[in-house]
Amino acid sequence: MLPLLFLGLLAHACLVRPQQLQPKNIFILAGQSNMAGRGGVVNNTWDGIVPSQCQPNPSILRLSANLTWVLAQEPLHADIDTKMITGVGPGMAFANVVLAKDPTFGVIGLVPCAIGGTAISQWGRGTSLYKRLVRRAQAALQDGGTIQALLWYQGEADTVSKEAADSYGAKLESFFVDVREDLKSPMLPIIQVALASGSVPFVDTVREGQLGIDLLELRTVDAKGLQLESDGIHLTTQAQVQLGEIMADTFLQLLPSTNGPILSPIPSSAPRRAIGYVTWICRVIIKHLNYLT
Ligand SMILES: *[C@@H]1O[C@H](CO)[C@@H](O)[C@H](O)[C@H]1NC(C)=O
Ligand SMILES: *[C@@H]1O[C@H](CO)[C@@H](O)[C@H](O)[C@H]1NC(C)=O
Repeated sequence: MLPLLFLGLLAHACLVRPQQLQPKNIFILAGQSNMAGRGGVVNNTWDGIVPSQCQPNPSILRLSANLTWVLAQEPLHADIDTKMITGVGPGMAFANVVLAKDPTFGVIGLVPCAIGGTAISQWGRGTSLYKRLVRRAQAALQDGGTIQALLWYQGEADTVSKEAADSYGAKLESFFVDVREDLKSPMLPIIQVALASGSVPFVDTVREGQLGIDLLELRTVDAKGLQLESDGIHLTTQAQVQLGEIMADTFLQLLPSTNGPILSPIPSSAPRRAIGYVTWICRVIIKHLNYLT
C-alpha cells in the first residue's frame, strides 16, 4: 500500500510539472523603469489593465525573485523593482508575439532584472545590479535551456548631466561586452531600446551613445515617438505593447531560420544529473502505471 502511494505521489509530481523539465528559451530583461514597466501607472497607482497582447500564456514562464519559475504575468517586475509601483512593460508582448509568429519556438523563460531610476554606472561589472543579473541568468539555466537574448532599455537616468551623457556610450558598450563575457556567450544577441524620453538636451547625447555602438548581434529599436504617460517619462501600456512587438520582430530576424547568421546561444553548463534522474524515474513509473490501468 505504502509503496503504491509513494509511486502515485511521485507520478503526480511528474505529471503536474512537465514544463519545468523542458528546455527554455531564456530572455534577460534589464535596464530601468521603462523595461521594468510603468504602463498604466498614474499617480503611483497601476490601473491593472492588461491588454490581450500581454495576457499570460502557459508557454511563458518568469523567474521570480526567489529563483523559481512561475507562470509569467503582469507586472513582470513586481517582485524585482520592489521600491516602485510597477505596471506593463515590453516583456509579455514580446514573448507572446515571438510565440505567435514562431509556434515551434518552445517555452519562453523571462528573467526580469530591471530597476527603476538606475544609471549606467550602477550596472557596470562588479556592481550589485550586474552581479544579480549574472546570478539570475545562471539560475535560469539550472533546468537547462539557452539564453536567447538580452533585452535592454535604460539611459533616462544618464540624461541629467553632460558628464553622464558624454560617457554613456562607452560605459554601455563595456557593459554589453562584459555581460557577454561573463555569460560565456560572445555573440549573445542584444536588443537595446533607444530612448523615448529624458532630460533635454542630454537625452540626444545619450541616444547618440546608444546608436553609436557597433557590436555584432546588437540591434537597436527606437522608442522615440511612442506615446508617453502624463509624466513625460514612461511609455503607456499601448506603447509598451508596440515596443514589445517591434523587439519580437527584431529578435525573430536574428534567428538562424529566417536570416542565417551564426548564433551561439549559451548552452547550459549547469549539472543536469538530478533532473535527469527524476525525469527517468517519472518515465518508468508512468510506463508502469499505464500497464496497470
Ligand atoms: C492624478 O492626480 C492629479 C493631481 O492630483 C489629478 O488631477 C488627476 O486626475 C489624477 N489622475 C488620475 C488618473 O487619477
Ligand atoms: C517564490 O515566488 C513565487 C512567485 O512570487 C511564489 O509563488 C512562491 O511561493 C515562492 N516560493 C518560495 C519557496 O518562496
